[in-house]
Amino acid sequence: MDIAKLIRKNCQGFEPYVAGKPIETIKRELKLKKIVKLASNENPIGPSKKAVKAIKDNAAKAFFYPDSNSYTLKHALSSKHKLPENNIFTAAGGDEIIELVARLFFNPSDEIIISQHSFVRYEMAARLMNSKPVIIPMREGFIQDLPAMAKACSANTKAIFITNPNNPTGTYNSKAALSSFLASIKPTINGQKPLIIIDEAYFEYGKLQKDYPDSLEYLKKNENLIILRTFSKIYGLAGLRVGYGFAHKDIVDYIERIRPPFNVNSLAQAAAVASLSDSAQIKKGQSLIRKEKEFLEKELKKLAMDYVKSAANFILIKSSPLKGKDLFVALLKKGVIVRAMDEYELPDWIRLTIGLHDENKMFIDKIKEVLNK
Ligand SMILES: Cc1ncc(COP(=O)(O)O)c(C=O)c1O
Repeated sequence: MDIAKLIRKNCQGFEPYVAGKPIETIKRELKLKKIVKLASNENPIGPSKKAVKAIKDNAAKAFFYPDSNSYTLKHALSSKHKLPENNIFTAAGGDEIIELVARLFFNPSDEIIISQHSFVRYEMAARLMNSKPVIIPMREGFIQDLPAMAKACSANTKAIFITNPNNPTGTYNSKAALSSFLASIKPTINGQKPLIIIDEAYFEYGKLQKDYPDSLEYLKKNENLIILRTFSKIYGLAGLRVGYGFAHKDIVDYIERIRPPFNVNSLAQAAAVASLSDSAQIKKGQSLIRKEKEFLEKELKKLAMDYVKSAANFILIKSSPLKGKDLFVALLKKGVIVRAMDEYELPDWIRLTIGLHDENKMFIDKIKEVLNK
């Protein structure tokens, strides 16, 4: 039997997602004592103690299906953000939100505007639905070119993805840039404005910048807006898969109709609710990143290595004279896992997730060894 003959045509060219190998596997394979993983933009201080307690307290109840409506979580998000619950939805991570939006809105003839060097899952989602990704080059300094993205809208444009701050560049668009972008979007498709999906997976880091936009302010006036957030990054719950979003109540209503009924598991819901009550943990995460970013920038300057100024918890670093892939392998052999950037069409760069001080120091020490500096 030839299964490929049964697969939808647009799914045949997909490659499996290459996730980083688990630390234990690398330790075993390379016979290394110490490994640090600075590859997936997680929060190195981990989740709130309150979240860990909530997971333990709820573990024995895992035989029940979760609350399909994430009632308590939505309620907590609603209080925190002062937004009605019917403007809020939850999902199994930002990844699932991207896919739900695609499944709900993207037709085969639709064009989906995506910035060059932005999160890879948008293009995958467009291709999954057989829609056409339209990739817009970044402007100088690896910044998403919002005016060019607005200009690229055609009568077939169904959606525009904006990542703020952007993964993997760490750059962001200011309040002024986002305001004028939103004001410039005209009804072009079936007399409607295209959807604007603002991916704020790194919101809690981005908002430390003075001119970072408060996207919720735009929600009332822009019914075409979908804002994506996650508990995977600063909340330190990547392993539990829980994300959330804000949108017009009609969009939320349609998302509710197509999502899997139990997409957010019960431990994730409990941990997310508990995390929301621990603002001290968020502050701790923010201040670690601020301090460690300064340390890394200073060290990179000493090594004369180029990097992109980041508003997030990771840094895009030029790998030259090596290719990103080769620097990745050389560092891996020394016990430091970073991310090569070929899939982002940045073959001369690596992305480093900012870790704990010792981990960042180990990265710098190993870079010195690899580059003989
Ligand atoms: C920009 C961006 N959006 C969304 C996600 C998805 O995160 P999750 O599915 O863990 O919520 C990530 C993860 O790395 C990301 O970098």
